[in-house]
Amino acid sequence: MSAHDAGTLAISVVCSAVFVILMVMGILGVWSLSKATPVTANEAPAPERTPPPRRPAQRRRDRGEIELLPADATVTFAAERSAADIDDVFDALDRDLIGLVPVKRKIQEIAALLLVDRARNKFGLSAPRPNLHMCFTGPPGTGKTTVALRMGELLHRLGYLEKGHLVHAMRDDLVAEYIGQTAPKTKRVLDRAMGGVLFIDEAYYLYRGEDSKDYGQEVVDILLQVMENERDKLVVILAGYKDRMDEFFGSNPGMSSRIAHHLDFAAYELDELVNIGRRMMEQSNYYLSAEAEVAFSEYLTHRMGQPRFANARSVRNELDRARLRHAHRLATELDRSWNRDDLMRIEPADVVIRA
Ligand SMILES: Nc1ncnc2c1ncn2[C@@H]1O[C@H](COP(=O)(O)OP(=O)(O)OP(=O)(O)O)[C@@H](O)[C@H]1O
Ligand SMILES: [Mg+2]
Repeated sequence: MSAHDAGTLAISVVCSAVFVILMVMGILGVWSLSKATPVTANEAPAPERTPPPRRPAQRRRDRGEIELLPADATVTFAAERSAADIDDVFDALDRDLIGLVPVKRKIQEIAALLLVDRARNKFGLSAPRPNLHMCFTGPPGTGKTTVALRMGELLHRLGYLEKGHLVHAMRDDLVAEYIGQTAPKTKRVLDRAMGGVLFIDEAYYLYRGEDSKDYGQEVVDILLQVMENERDKLVVILAGYKDRMDEFFGSNPGMSSRIAHHLDFAAYELDELVNIGRRMMEQSNYYLSAEAEVAFSEYLTHRMGQPRFANARSVRNELDRARLRHAHRLATELDRSWNRDDLMRIEPADVVIRA
């Protein structure tokens, strides 16, 4: 082999070796890529990608709006109710509150109005948001505050209130004693209530007619404005005795015209009060013996005719006192054995009729 041939052979060997090495590296590269461990979000965030352009419906969904249904679509209200998850609220209303049939019917009507409003929105049938300010009238202890709490929950589930909480206020929480302090005081309460229900108990005390030094009228004026301008964010419920509330509306027609729903809570009949007592006892794992129920019924008959009788609240208070007497009756007999039933059973001796 000549020197020239040897040089050519050496060059071709080197070139082939380089070629083989490059091939092997290439194959190894592809192999290692295919075996790469997936990158988890914790280890290394994926490089930011520009989101794909969003279709108008998707943008509406992002803003919390509902995608429009085609004109030939259909809805059922069973599906609407279950989507809003409101049956729980009605179950709790039925379970916890005895009677109140007209009030419960009215709440179903309000829910129906809102369900239909939601369904119409899905078809793009827009209408102003229904006015939801309410007035609950009735004597003390008839369930007004309890129903207002449930109403907040219902309106939240239906999407008409962002939070659905309840802020309870009376005249003293809103009206200040000195000039310039009432507006900020009222605004603080309103700020706390935004997204929920502002429940104003005995609302008629806000208005003191001829008293020119009273700042209650300032509160009424602020409320009138907020009830109109912030009705998407706040539901106001005014509560109190019916006749006084009617008087209040008589002297504040602006307020009357802003209330869309009036719910009247009637005083309970004797059998309803007894049932309420039975339910309260069940909920705390007590019960009235048959004789104790008779004694309790007599107690209520006597109490219903007295001033300051507060319906279901009086029932609750008397049952609390009965529990005290029951506890005392058992705990003072130190050496006597009591069984599970004894610890649950209220006897006539625990229910006392005071003259
Ligand atoms: N129908 C009912 N069934 C069972 N419990 C009831 C019923 N109505 C009221 N209660 C109970 O009675 C108590 C008083 O009710 P609530 O505070 O809602 O009455 P209210 O009308 O707001 O009274 P007030 O006017 O004095 O503020 C609560 O413990 C509530 O759970
Ligand atoms: Mg109340």
